[in-house]
Amino acid sequence: MQIITSKDELQRLCLDWRCSGVKTALVPTMGYYHTGHESLMDYARQRADKVIVSLFVNPTQFGPHEDLAAYPRDLAGDAEVASRMGVDVLFTPQAEEMFPQGHGTWVEVPELAKGLCGISRPTHFRGVCTVVMKLLTLTLPRLAVFGEKDWQQLAILKRMAKDMCLPVSIEGSPIIREKDGLAMSSRNIYLTPEERKQAPALQLGLQHARDLVAQGERDVEKLRAAIRGYWQQHLPTGSVDYLEIVHPETLAPLESVGRDALCAAAVKVGRARLIDNLKLV
Ligand code: PAF
Repeated sequence: MQIITSKDELQRLCLDWRCSGVKTALVPTMGYYHTGHESLMDYARQRADKVIVSLFVNPTQFGPHEDLAAYPRDLAGDAEVASRMGVDVLFTPQAEEMFPQGHGTWVEVPELAKGLCGISRPTHFRGVCTVVMKLLTLTLPRLAVFGEKDWQQLAILKRMAKDMCLPVSIEGSPIIREKDGLAMSSRNIYLTPEERKQAPALQLGLQHARDLVAQGERDVEKLRAAIRGYWQQHLPTGSVDYLEIVHPETLAPLESVGRDALCAAAVKVGRARLIDNLKLV
């Protein structure tokens, strides 16, 4: 596995691959790998000749009071994982390499970014779109892979690629969960043992709503109330940031559950802000 820190070197290599018909896949990450990241690398490995993984804790997607400085990092461990997963190139730029002095262009998809996580993180998706657009321009992949846990991010990036006519397929890979159902996340290490015990209730609350839908309940307000009730009982340390039932592509809030409905939630549990989602039908 090649480790590259220079964007010019990466772009030269990837331009060469694209021009000579080598099918490449990009997996953008912020590091501190767990099984969820491995599944993204595996997804890419199975579909491309060359796999490029970027490892960059992107400062532009963190708000002023968020955990940029504390975000967990383990470059040596991550390089071992990436190499074991058969990654061809690990791109690990410094912040100045990606955002040098004078950087002044931003990419936004405001319609999809305004709700859900965008309410408490108003500049987050602008940072995500901008860094991903740069990574796509540097690597020119045929596909780029993102986890479905960050459903809103995935929907936004799909729209960005479509609107900007990017020659790349943006693909989602299923959420990987711990045995008790908690979605894997680098931020789970912020949980205390007691919070960790309660955390699976986030997903179980969403499953409770899906069960109610299967029994015929269609009213979104009733479903949200049922989930909140479940959390009050099983996730008492949690404070709900948002809980919405939306159309999975447009992210528009629904009043009643029809053919396509996604329940998405963020709950603060101690220092961690956990997000999860579940299709209700
Ligand atoms: O999902 C993430 O880890 C990040 O938002 C991403 C896509 C790597 C952009 O920094």
